[in-house]
Amino acid sequence: MTEHTLRSFPCTQPISGSMTIPGDKSISHRAIIISSISSGQCTVSNFLMSQDCLNTIKAFRQLGVPIDQTGDAQFVVHGQGLHGLKESNSAIDLGNSGTGMRLIAGILSAQPFISVLIGDESLHKRPMKRIITPLEMMGASISATNGQYPPLTITGGHLKPIDYILPIASAQVKSCVLLAGLAIDGVTRVVEPAKSRDHTEHMLAYFGADISVDGLAITLRGGKELESRDIVVPADISSAAFFIVAAAAMHGARLKLVNIGLNPTRIGIITILKRMGAKISIEQSNAIYESGWNEPRGDVIVEGSTLNGITIAGDDVPLVIDEIPVLSVAAACANGITKIRDAGELRVKESDRISTMVENLRKIGVKVTEYQDGMDIEGGSLFHSAEVDSFHDHRVAMSMAIAGLFLKSGEIIIRNTKNIDTSFPNFEQLLNRLRSL
Ligand code: S3P
Repeated sequence: MTEHTLRSFPCTQPISGSMTIPGDKSISHRAIIISSISSGQCTVSNFLMSQDCLNTIKAFRQLGVPIDQTGDAQFVVHGQGLHGLKESNSAIDLGNSGTGMRLIAGILSAQPFISVLIGDESLHKRPMKRIITPLEMMGASISATNGQYPPLTITGGHLKPIDYILPIASAQVKSCVLLAGLAIDGVTRVVEPAKSRDHTEHMLAYFGADISVDGLAITLRGGKELESRDIVVPADISSAAFFIVAAAAMHGARLKLVNIGLNPTRIGIITILKRMGAKISIEQSNAIYESGWNEPRGDVIVEGSTLNGITIAGDDVPLVIDEIPVLSVAAACANGITKIRDAGELRVKESDRISTMVENLRKIGVKVTEYQDGMDIEGGSLFHSAEVDSFHDHRVAMSMAIAGLFLKSGEIIIRNTKNIDTSFPNFEQLLNRLRSL
């Protein structure tokens, strides 16, 4: 296979204009998963046509759910109900997707057959004990490499409800337990240590599940079939984040990103950049509230300004977990030191995002100190040309591409960038368009 390389270099003038970002990854996965076990026909529009999300579609087709493509990014899912999935006659390959594997493991634990979940080299290094523990407490039987890593062989069946206190703030683990609880006649309760993204809770409520949220506790009474609903996926704020940072740190820039998902558990990138001094405003659309599905969206307008170093820690972290790599680039452009702490979870993402970003930032001349749970980034240093690697991580690749916009001269060559397709297939095209806006 030929290696993909991305070359990033400065714009000739500050970026300005408007940009449309593809659909949200977390919501696209959930839209397919939840409509597949609903009791009717659901149309999913503005679906993210990325490798990760397409693997989720393939998985449910293997499990006997008819899913028809009806447009460029539109699918009609014929839901089979809570008990209607069929055993797949081959392993289900989730590629690079931790979300796909962890959420689908929850669904399959409740099905009375055996399923085998596999993925790529990177996914086979991601920790699964965090979902195996609660799913086994519920009565599923799961075997994994060293009791911890994929492939997962799941023997599902009749589960019992649990009351589970999550040891880490993880939307994937929370969602896994809730999705397993859907088929159980009884009350499943999950308590998080800090708020993580809550798309599963909103989508289940929209599909008519008996679910309630009280602070950090979520209560679900299972056993009730889901209704069918249509979903229009908002644009992904985690993908928009790359261009939000690019415009926020560039003097004279003005960029409008349209129809972005603005769920309060996802807008950490905006609130944190504002704490750094960024000029960002939001024009919220009310349309979505009328559909009964509580996923706000709107346009995000960013103007370039001077950023200052801050501390990102504690409850900030789950709300910005996927944006920390690009925030570390914003920090490198800022005045003063930015401290990132309590972010040890970054070490078990698609790469160890603390060590991979530290290594790459150092290669372009940024002074960074690595800690077990974060890093200190000294802002204000001039970046220089370098060759870096994505370390098989889409967000590391895209973050380094944004850093390339801030070089004084030369370019950053980023090796091994095919993985960008897992979340943002037209990233490079938009990056190039940005240069000509
Ligand atoms: C996701 C949750 C986050 C995030 C991932 C998507 C989700 O992971 O990093 O990219 O869709 O639930 P954790 O919940 O494990 O932190």
